[in-house]
Amino acid sequence: MKRVIVLGTGGTIAGSGGLPGANVGYTAGTIPVSDLLTGITGPADLVLEGEQVAQLDSKDMELETWLQLRARCVHWLAQADVAGVVITHGTDTIEETAFFLASTVATSKPIVLTCAMRPATALSPDGPQNLRDALSVAADPAAAGVVVVCAGEIHGARHVSKSHPYRLNAFSSGDIGPLGYVEEGQVRLVHGWPSLLKAEPTLDPEIWSAGADWPRVEILMSHAGASGMLLDLLADQREAGVENAVEGVVIAATGNGSLHQVVEAAAQRAKQRGVAVLIASRCGSGKVLRPDTRGIEDAADLNAPKARIALMLALLCQSRGTHL
Ligand code: SIN
Repeated sequence: MKRVIVLGTGGTIAGSGGLPGANVGYTAGTIPVSDLLTGITGPADLVLEGEQVAQLDSKDMELETWLQLRARCVHWLAQADVAGVVITHGTDTIEETAFFLASTVATSKPIVLTCAMRPATALSPDGPQNLRDALSVAADPAAAGVVVVCAGEIHGARHVSKSHPYRLNAFSSGDIGPLGYVEEGQVRLVHGWPSLLKAEPTLDPEIWSAGADWPRVEILMSHAGASGMLLDLLADQREAGVENAVEGVVIAATGNGSLHQVVEAAAQRAKQRGVAVLIASRCGSGKVLRPDTRGIEDAADLNAPKARIALMLALLCQSRGTHL
């Protein structure tokens, strides 16, 4: 007998309310994970166990919840009879949670995040099928790594992003496409499973506890009519020693990582004043290929929210003299 642990964090999949049967105007994160599991059967011989880690609208996701989630994943995946973990999550930041876990949990077992675009009280909710599909992936003996399952598609944590505010198949992995599909409980893989973190990050154990001192990284955007003023203000705060001032900034850049000239000048000033600056393309797909970096690194194929996580982790490692 294998177990799959379903960790609940809220989201539309656990949402209810609004007009009877409506798809919008509900409250996310109201239904306990134990109720989401009622009537859901996984593949044969699979024992399902639910655990509530959080109950929130994922737009309000915070580092503390990521750390709790990470701790529960590490705990459960270490048990020999646990085949994998499923996480029920809101769609809005699921890609960030997936990338955080993919960057910080070393396991050969699957961590499968799933979600819904319609609340549980909709006329035709999509959550139960997505949850059922996620269980099929978690129970697949070949499955490994952190993936997002939604609308019958399996996406890897690195490339997945929410690309539609309403449609049931709201996720895209850009040029890469889905890693595979779930059809009638069967996994059909078209790419390999995502690569795994080779070893547990060698950061001090206290870093993984809620309330630990993580660097603050903000995201700004380069756009027509930009002023660079916010970047200067953030660098001013850092120089003035303001509590919790930023250590890093990700700039969602135009096209192939280009910056408005005033943003570029502000970015160079910020760097000189000790703020780490990382560029991510705001295109939503593809990989930045800059022949001339002008001394400012880019995040390759990571979007800005994931580049923010990568920069937080890099700064953390830098300050502790270690690496991921
Ligand atoms: C959320 O992200 O928690 C709300 C939206 C959703 O799950 O679709």
